[in-house]
Amino acid sequence: MTTRSKDIPRREAGIDRSKAPEPRVSSKDFMGNRYTSREFMELEWERMWTRVWMVGGLVAQLPEQGDYITHQFGRESILMIRGFDNKIRAFYNICQHRGNLLTTSEEGSVVSDGTIQCAYHGWKWNADGALVHVEDSHDFLEGNPCDHLRLNEIPCDTWAGMVWFNMDNNGLPLRDFLAPMTDQLDSYEIEKMTRTDWVTMELECNWKVVQDNFNESYHVRIVHPEARFFLDDRIENTQFDLYPNGHCRMLMPGGAPGPTVESIDELPNYVRSELKFWELDVEDYRGRDLAQMRYDLWAQKRRLGTSKGFDFSRYSDEQLTDNYHYTLFPNLTLSMKPDGIIWLRAEPHPTDPGKCLFDMWNFQLFPQDGSSIYNKNMQKLVNKDYQAEHIVGKQGEVSVGPGIDQDVSIWTTQQAGLASQGFYRPVFANQERRIPFHHDVIDRYLFGGDNVEQYGQRKTAP
Ligand code: FES
Ligand SMILES: [Fe+2]
Repeated sequence: MTTRSKDIPRREAGIDRSKAPEPRVSSKDFMGNRYTSREFMELEWERMWTRVWMVGGLVAQLPEQGDYITHQFGRESILMIRGFDNKIRAFYNICQHRGNLLTTSEEGSVVSDGTIQCAYHGWKWNADGALVHVEDSHDFLEGNPCDHLRLNEIPCDTWAGMVWFNMDNNGLPLRDFLAPMTDQLDSYEIEKMTRTDWVTMELECNWKVVQDNFNESYHVRIVHPEARFFLDDRIENTQFDLYPNGHCRMLMPGGAPGPTVESIDELPNYVRSELKFWELDVEDYRGRDLAQMRYDLWAQKRRLGTSKGFDFSRYSDEQLTDNYHYTLFPNLTLSMKPDGIIWLRAEPHPTDPGKCLFDMWNFQLFPQDGSSIYNKNMQKLVNKDYQAEHIVGKQGEVSVGPGIDQDVSIWTTQQAGLASQGFYRPVFANQERRIPFHHDVIDRYLFGGDNVEQYGQRKTAP
């Protein structure tokens, strides 16, 4: 078998693991009404959601000039089109005649004359937002609308194979908004990955319940008991980084069982399959320190990666096995693996603070020459040759994969408790500090400056 000492110099390529300076995190109380109040929801919409960059879809959904996608985000529908100059633009999906939705399709392409026609009075808009046809155009007292009306365009950019939009015309450029996460995540070449699963789940909880959950790993050993077979969740071995723009990351060792696993006899089949795929024999670890598996996987992935169709040259050793978990402000979570990503996002419901729309996209990096591979996150074979179908349903009707389904099961019960008058306030462990930090940044948008004022009145325990 391959052996590799923990003392062999490690590969330093890939993501900089330097610990970010710890920001001040407020000790304000987080009242349950942050998750239930319509007033707070309205403030979030007016002062935050309409000022941040959001993902509208994938560049891969717009391969041809004239292709378009729409994304329903809260109360708004956003239209993104690849123009005939190849540029992707974003517009409110609204006809500027009398406000009809321009298209109700999630994906499509402009018709043969290069326009989208409104279904109400037949006005035609081209792919760069110009109005090019109006019925009875001579009948408008303000003059021909084609001479002065355009679709309402908003900032649009692409990064990591995703199309991003921002309803704020005066906001930061996308890379500055996402800094420093773009520099870190660029090493994964996300744009080369394929979205193999696309699920939207309507949930009975506020969007922050979801993001709070992804901003802590304290729950892992309880909600995901099987995780101990492939990661070490001890906080002394885990690094948390909180960045000024509100983005966070967590670096947690993986690729080997945690300290509560004592024997290889406990290991489930998928861990054995992973070892076998990388030509390691599980029996070689009988009676040994199981943490050695991580180092052996580094060596095997370096040795065999190319022959199995993977290019790991851009990654550090840790990236080959560990959990690089990113939460991008305000609502995107990326769980990175060298050969794929779980992409998670909760968006606000258009009207109800007690609901949200949760998206799970599973991305797979396929080996060269390989079109089908077993995906560990989804626990199924995934295929490169087709675009994932969009599956939409309520909790219990659809699955977001076995691991994340476990998280989902908690969210609605927590929402019920947050809405109770019997709940006082959350009590955070230090390892949960990304949650109050995230809420501090939300409050910076809502209340300005460094204001970390409390929303709502503190209830005092008897
Ligand atoms: S509302 Fe679109 S053409 Fe009238
Ligand atoms: Fe979880």
